[in-house]
Amino acid sequence: MATIDKTQQDAEKQAAAMAAVKFVKNGDVVGLGTGSTTTFAIKELGKRVSDGLKITAAASSIRTEELARSLGIEILDLGSLSEIDISIDGADEFTESLDLIKGGGGALFREKIIASLSKNAIIITDASKKVKKLGAFTIPIEVLPLAYQYVSDQIDKLGGKGVLRIAAGEKFITDNQNLIIDADFGLIDDPAKLSSDLNQINGLLAHGLFINLTSKVVMSEGTDIIIFE
Ligand code: A5P
Repeated sequence: MATIDKTQQDAEKQAAAMAAVKFVKNGDVVGLGTGSTTTFAIKELGKRVSDGLKITAAASSIRTEELARSLGIEILDLGSLSEIDISIDGADEFTESLDLIKGGGGALFREKIIASLSKNAIIITDASKKVKKLGAFTIPIEVLPLAYQYVSDQIDKLGGKGVLRIAAGEKFITDNQNLIIDADFGLIDDPAKLSSDLNQINGLLAHGLFINLTSKVVMSEGTDIIIFE
């Protein structure tokens, strides 16, 4: 795998974020993702709000909610929304057909709800996230703690290899008080089929394959902005 220059990558993340925030209009309900790329977008939205933009927002994680509120962005209760005008979120991998792997930051469950509610779901990335086939990045899977072993066994039966996510020596606990299994299925030939198979597993709350949930990917590469839609 090619080495990624972190400064260049951060510049690309910021450029993609700035380009995406331009799509946000007065009066929009905005879905806010989670992660380092989305953080650039939230900060830019905060600047536009202090310059007079009127929006409300729904957050995909506690850390996103705290950041947005600190910047003066009004946060709505995600559970009360039937529709979101536009959402901005990152991805761990994407293909030109707009299939994604998300959840590296563990916020996939709420991110998927936001993407499902969004009329215009925009993904922002640096160029390192674009792949021909998904699967070099393991698929994050949020699971009820009491269903952990059952779900792990079902992942095995589907040909995957799941590992419980650990952070700072402890089980990683999501904002929804659940566990994450990071599942390796190798490079995935048919992401839609795998997504559908995973959706059949009881106790599996959400997985990081996002299929048919993206309107466009705004990718920054060098000094270029490339839009896939
Ligand atoms: C959070 O759970 C993820 O889905 C992130 O959107 C994804 O991991 C991208 O994160 P970065 O923008 O930090 O690369």
